Amino acid sequence: MLKSHNCGELGLAQAGQTVTLAGWVHRRRDHGALIFLDIRDRSGVVQVTCNETAPAAREVLNAARNEYVVQITGVVQARPEGLVNPRLATGAIEVIAQSAQILNEAKTPPFYINEDVETDEVLRLRYRYLDLRRPAMQHNLVYRHKVVKLIRDYLDERGFVEIETPILIKSTPEGARDYVVPSRVHPGEFYALPQSPQQLKQLLMVAGYERYFQIARCFRDEDLRADRQPEFTQLDMELSFVEREDIMALLEGLYIQIIEKLGSKPIQHKPFPVISYADAMGLYGVEKPDLRFGLQLADLSDLVRGSEFAAFSEALAAGGQVKAVLAPGCAEYSRKQVEDLGEVARRYGAKGVFSIARKADGSVKSSLSKFLSEAALQAIFERTGAQAGDLLLILADASQGVVAASLGQLRLNLGRQLGLVDESVHALCWVVDFPLLEWNAEEGRWSAMHHPFTSAKDEDWPLLESDPGCVRAKAYDMVLDGWEVGGGSIRIHRREQQAAMFKALGISPEQAEEQFGHMLEAFEYGAPPHGGIAMGIDRTVALLTGASNIREVIAFPKTASATDLMFKSPSPITEAQLRELHLKVV
Ligand code: AMO
Repeated sequence: MLKSHNCGELGLAQAGQTVTLAGWVHRRRDHGALIFLDIRDRSGVVQVTCNETAPAAREVLNAARNEYVVQITGVVQARPEGLVNPRLATGAIEVIAQSAQILNEAKTPPFYINEDVETDEVLRLRYRYLDLRRPAMQHNLVYRHKVVKLIRDYLDERGFVEIETPILIKSTPEGARDYVVPSRVHPGEFYALPQSPQQLKQLLMVAGYERYFQIARCFRDEDLRADRQPEFTQLDMELSFVEREDIMALLEGLYIQIIEKLGSKPIQHKPFPVISYADAMGLYGVEKPDLRFGLQLADLSDLVRGSEFAAFSEALAAGGQVKAVLAPGCAEYSRKQVEDLGEVARRYGAKGVFSIARKADGSVKSSLSKFLSEAALQAIFERTGAQAGDLLLILADASQGVVAASLGQLRLNLGRQLGLVDESVHALCWVVDFPLLEWNAEEGRWSAMHHPFTSAKDEDWPLLESDPGCVRAKAYDMVLDGWEVGGGSIRIHRREQQAAMFKALGISPEQAEEQFGHMLEAFEYGAPPHGGIAMGIDRTVALLTGASNIREVIAFPKTASATDLMFKSPSPITEAQLRELHLKVV
């Protein structure tokens, strides 16, 4: 070993001992006769002092600059009174250098490693190995390791087996776009990287493993957002002979352990609230409600039915809705402020937002006043809980989806803007009873809301042909602070039900055979009832570390345009490689 101790572990207990440290120069202060160096390794930082007692060491360290790699032998000494640094874990001691050598030099880094300053992310990703030296990033990655370790221990104790599944599999048309890999030995044929090990884990259930998990890398060629990466990691699980509640209880127990053992904030509600998809959409306008604040949406449709206000009557006549969200204490918002909120709603498809201000003096200010009777107004106030001083934002649209999406977003904006989000807790919940199918207007067909292997609720199977939109799935999502951290379902395990599902999705028997023949066939060899779930590890760790983007908890992430700035990939390949792979770039 080139070192006897880790920098961050030194304290008064080692006073008087001779230690050898190896690490990076974090900071350097030159006081002429004295040189102070903060030396950093993964464990933390310690101050090394060079004085006249070891001139050779001082000469060596005099040449050291930030980020030089050094090895120093010295004596641990309690700092004189008044010089103790309470902000540093090792602040009660210093190491008096006796000998030193420079193990490697370093160019001046392109950004500060020793200061917590905002740095351009392009630069951080271009020099990720330097960015990862920063204590904040080290904390995130070590934290991530602890989460994964806890997961492995928790599942091992409960009889789960970790099994690796292949990365080169077959392209299937459902879900996001695949990343594909050309085959050299099969001209014109391609593998696909798995979007998730979904089919493989179900086949492991057919194979009799009963309890499987994997920390699985998944690949999806989709548009990126703060909570999405083209390759990301799931805790992927599958169990046989279980029901929805068994899987939910198992995962709930796991997340409680992760948060209570490793997190810093308490959990808002235990057991986690279970909310139906219909209620999530109705009350929060989204399928992943952030329960750290209230502001539930209120349906006013019945109160304004028969109104002469065209925007309301037309929306309702077309099967739409009129709904409101409360902006507490915002009765005095200016026209511009209300318009800005309207702009938020418009981005989600709404035509505009109407407002009713219930002023502190009892008066009401609204462009709707002449269309609403005093009784209707009072009923609206009662339904929404609007008090004197509050503002109501009302939205009407023929599409209930547009009402939900725009009002849901308004709710989120208001929650943040008005400081209503309780940042002192983590709010977890389950959303259940999703629709099995959703109408894909572009393609003019039904598509699976989760994936085509999800089972319908037993009582809803008969509706699959007659009323596909009404079939509810045995699916569940876990939501953490308004982010979907995981989702799963009880699966179809009978061939005829799987075939009926493919039919409902507009997949012909021939296509089903070609793409999913192995699944249909496997179901004929004694497939047990089974179900599972996959949790987003990156999202979970990001939320628990307070990161604003999952890139902060991934060692080498891609940018928002799916590029790697360090490797400069994707990149062209040589003509020879193309030829070998039977490819031509057009
Ligand atoms: P699903 O597609 O819902 O389900 O994914 C499960 C969880 O994975 C995370 N996730 C992502 N994280 C980062 N970047 C992405 N691009 C990304 N996409 C998804 C989310 C999500 O909740 N096979 C099914 C699971 C099952 O049914 O068992 C599946 O993959 O946290």
